[in-house]
Order: sequence, then C-alpha cells, then structure tokens
Amino acid sequence: GPPSRVLSLFTPSGRPTLGNLLGALLPSARLLPTADCVFGISDLHALTSEHDPARLRERSLELAGLAIAAGIDPARCVLFLQSNVPAHAELSYLLESTAHYGEMQRMIQFREKSERQSAVRLSLLTYPALMAADILLYQATDVPVGADQAQHVELTRDLAARFNRRYGPVFTLPRAVHPPMAARVMDLSDPGAKMSKSVDSPGTIFLLDPVDVVRRKIMRAVTDSGTSVAYDSEAKPGVSNLLAILSATTGTPVAELSPGSYGALKKETADAVIALLEPLQRHYATLSADPATLETVLRTGAERARERAASTVTAAKEAMGL
Ligand code: ADP
Ligand code: NA
Repeated sequence: GPPSRVLSLFTPSGRPTLGNLLGALLPSARLLPTADCVFGISDLHALTSEHDPARLRERSLELAGLAIAAGIDPARCVLFLQSNVPAHAELSYLLESTAHYGEMQRMIQFREKSERQSAVRLSLLTYPALMAADILLYQATDVPVGADQAQHVELTRDLAARFNRRYGPVFTLPRAVHPPMAARVMDLSDPGAKMSKSVDSPGTIFLLDPVDVVRRKIMRAVTDSGTSVAYDSEAKPGVSNLLAILSATTGTPVAELSPGSYGALKKETADAVIALLEPLQRHYATLSADPATLETVLRTGAERARERAASTVTAAKEAMGL
C-alpha cells in the first residue's frame, strides 16, 4: 500500500531527557526511510501552562536542533515550528466548534494537570482540539504516541468522524501507533516514576548534560539491597530500568545482557549512554554554532507544512459554511 503518513510533535516544555530520546526522538528518526513524516516542535502546546517567553523561544530552537542531531533529517521529512503554521490554530478553532465541553473535561491528562494548578489556562482544556488539528491538517494515518497520549488520539478520531458525518468527508481517521524499540525510561533516583523533563529530579539525564555529569548520575542510580542483576520491574525497578536503558542504547535484548554486578551494570550503562550522547552533542554543537542555518531549515519546513495544510483548512471551512 501507500506509505503511512506520520505526524509527531515534540513539545518544548523543558529540557529534553534521555526518556524523550529513547521514547520519542530515536523511534521517530527510525521511521524516516519508510514513512512520509511530518514532525513539529509544538511551541503552541507549551503555552498551556505558565511559561517564560524568552526561554520558550530558546527551548524551541534547542529542541529542533536536538531532533536533527538525533537523526530527524529535515531533508527527509517536514520539520517546523507549530506557531509558524497558522493553520494549526485556525483548524483548532473549527474543531472546538465540533467538540463538546464535557469530552474535553473528561480527558485524563486535563484532570491530572489541572488538579496541580491554581490558575488553569483555558488552553489546557482545549489542548486536545489543537492536537487533533495538528494531526488532521496533514491527513496523518499514524500517530506515534506513548500510552499517556493514546486517549487524545482516540478523541481526534471521534472528532474527525463526527465532522465527516455532519459536514462531509474532509478528514482521514488516524490511529495511534506504538513504535518498536521505544523504551520507557524511569527516573534514576526514583525508579517508580517516569523520567520527565517536567520534573526537577537528580535522577533525570538531560541530553545536553556534560558526559561526566551523565556518568555520575548513572553511577548514583538507586538500585536495591540485593546483588543479582535480573530484570524484574516490580521487585527490582532500579536495576530493571538500568537494564532497559542499556538494552535500548546498545540494541542488545535484555535477555542477552549479563553484567556480573550492580557496579558493572552501572558502568556498562554509563558507557553506552555516553557513546550515544557524545556524537549527538557534537552534531548539536555544530548546529547551534550556526543559528542562521537552523532558522533557514525551519523556515523552509514551515513553508512546506503550510502548503500541505492549506487544502485541509480550505476544505474544512467550505464544509462548515465559511
Ligand atoms: P515529559 O514527561 O518529559 O515532559 P512528554 O510528556 O512531553 O515528556 O512526552 C514527549 C514524548 O517523549 C512522548 O512521545 C513520550 O512518550 C516520550 N517520553 C517522555 N518521557 C519518556 C520516558 N521517560 N521514557 C520514554 N519515553 C518518554
Ligand atoms: Na510532560
């Protein structure tokens, strides 16, 4: 059949981590040879909670550079900043006029995030309409997501189907896909929790951490009072997390890994993570030394994204009587 059309967004809401690399950036880069890929830096999504304007711009460019350094080659996909393509906000409004208040309120992520904030931005509630627009604009067939975003892709399908029934067949119904080899990385100092760029923890490895800091964080990873290196995510979450990271970074199945001790496991994991991050950091340094070129790359990407999005927005507006 025709190649799948993939849409994936990376939100510049913090400094990217090893979890983002192994769970999102590298799996996305692996899709380039076989799929028609549209990858966006979703700076509009970063506005859904308190943010610093100067820092947001910096982080957007940093994330774009890290995505490229991780292998997301802008010559082989469409790579752009979401805010440079006005069709996202435009279609989002049309979809808000298709969606219901109750279904937005019921989204698990909204309930969890809004509980933790005193002044909840309205855009946090309407976030799934913007995400639906991101996907539907490009008639994406496949949306690679972690488990926490699967509900939003389901809602996108519901909104697209509802729109198509009510106004005519404008949108392709997308499906959530779980890319192979996407590892779930846990916090090194609290292996019961996901490593997250949104959480300030000594157990988070940032992609731009100096390699000696990376090594120190891994050597200090929480394990347990036992001594046998075995994968058991319930009873030995810290050791299992290190095994998962070592497996994902080396491409060796967990069953074939056999470090003799916790110390050896940490050392091998540190070596493997550093071997992965060093070339990425070198590539990133080259890109960030020449910001004009990166801006040109993103401008070209936005032009291509605008061209592809235009026909969908026009069709949706016409169908709605605009
Ligand atoms: P974060 O929690 O770091 O803010 P997001 O929720 O913005 O990350 O997720 C961005 C992408 O990175 C998603 O595709 C998500 O599945 C992936 N991701 C985030 N954290 C991890 C992790 N610890 N392990 C694997 N993948 C992750
Ligand atoms: Na997050």
